[in-house]
Amino acid sequence: MNSPAKQSFHVAPGGRLIGRLRVPGDKSISHRSVILGALADGVTRVSGFLEGADALSTRDALRALGVRIEGPHEGRLEVHGVGVDGLRAAPGAIDCGNAGTAMRLLIGLLSGQPFASVLVGDESLTRRPMRRVTEPLAAMGARIETNNGCPPVRIFPASGSLRAIRYEMPVASAQVKSALLLAGLYAEGVTEVREPAPTRDHTERMLGGFGVSLTRDGPWARMQGGQRLRATDIDVPGDISSAAFFLVGASIAAGSDLTLEHVGINPTRTGVIDILRAMGADITLEREREVGGEPVADLRVRGAQLRGIDVPPELVPLAIDEFPALFVAAACARGRTVITGAEELRVKESDRIAVMADGLAALGARVAPTPDGMVIDGRGDEPAPFAAATVNSHGDHRIAMALSLAALRGSGAIEIADTTNVATSFPGFVALAQGCGLAVSTRAGG
Ligand code: S3P
Repeated sequence: MNSPAKQSFHVAPGGRLIGRLRVPGDKSISHRSVILGALADGVTRVSGFLEGADALSTRDALRALGVRIEGPHEGRLEVHGVGVDGLRAAPGAIDCGNAGTAMRLLIGLLSGQPFASVLVGDESLTRRPMRRVTEPLAAMGARIETNNGCPPVRIFPASGSLRAIRYEMPVASAQVKSALLLAGLYAEGVTEVREPAPTRDHTERMLGGFGVSLTRDGPWARMQGGQRLRATDIDVPGDISSAAFFLVGASIAAGSDLTLEHVGINPTRTGVIDILRAMGADITLEREREVGGEPVADLRVRGAQLRGIDVPPELVPLAIDEFPALFVAAACARGRTVITGAEELRVKESDRIAVMADGLAALGARVAPTPDGMVIDGRGDEPAPFAAATVNSHGDHRIAMALSLAALRGSGAIEIADTTNVATSFPGFVALAQGCGLAVSTRAGG
């Protein structure tokens, strides 16, 4: 758990975003590709794999569990699957770093194994809630200990098969759904999971691609335990959650015209496009196509005058990672934006409601955090609504990137402290952002 030296961002004010770029591979799909590839019979070849710290934590975890994995080299990864029954005990604790997805999915997977495992994470992950997965897994017969519901997580060997459950999730969480489906591969009977609102369905799609029979019926996913996986090839599209920073940046900076190539537009992920369009953004989808079971398109976005809206709560789970960027958009809109039903933001890599409210307030925005969202009175009538300030990302990658884009509408430079974790989801962010017109540079320290 050695943390790399801290870095900060310096962003000079003004500019617009022009050109074409390709953001790195989808984080959610990358995690799943290496997990399912490891469990499959045969070799899975992945292209477009995210070479960010989070996805690499999952790769390293599977290596520690005895799986041979080559790469990534330029996004190409080869996973030599060991079959559902082929994992071996890791020699020590498995370090998930900053990655909540790695930890929650691995808890599900490891609950069904005949050996013990210990999962640890960094300071941020050590504060994040794990009961949402450990409680339903315990109902399946898993034996798990946590520190008051948080990591470290100790999983004891499963004695025999787990028991399938029928579970209605209290929170709309793709991580919980995925953890239960992974455990369900090791359960006797049919695992049935109901989500209270649609969440990203990459696990269900990818299990299908690996030959697992899984049925989806409205809010329910149902899967018979004991199935085997057949290796397949996976082409990971660009991450819409990374594209989101540029969708917002180009929308708020007049005269922008940016095309984001080969972005995943799975309908369980496109809430950010729907919300921005409702605010008046000019986003068009070009070359829509399907790649390996996931819809993909090029997204063209041009500067537009945004207006405040009441964000429909049903869109919240479909844009859950994009709110740091959306808060910046709202602060540049004309009128009031109200976000409700987003209390999950409080248990992400940081408390994204509190940290974004602090950051935006320091920049002069009119924001009022609420228990489950935020009310933002946009200053869209002003060419440069954000003042010069030093703000803190609290080690949260998405906060750092979202606040850096605010400089496009700043009247002075914005310094953002503690930006090292941008590499967890978006390696190369600074170079890509500079290349299309954001005056961002990295400084040591902070
Ligand atoms: C993810 C699901 C979401 C999201 C996270 C990645 C996934 O979390 O915030 O960044 O890959 O399943 P929840 O499912 O907990 O909402």
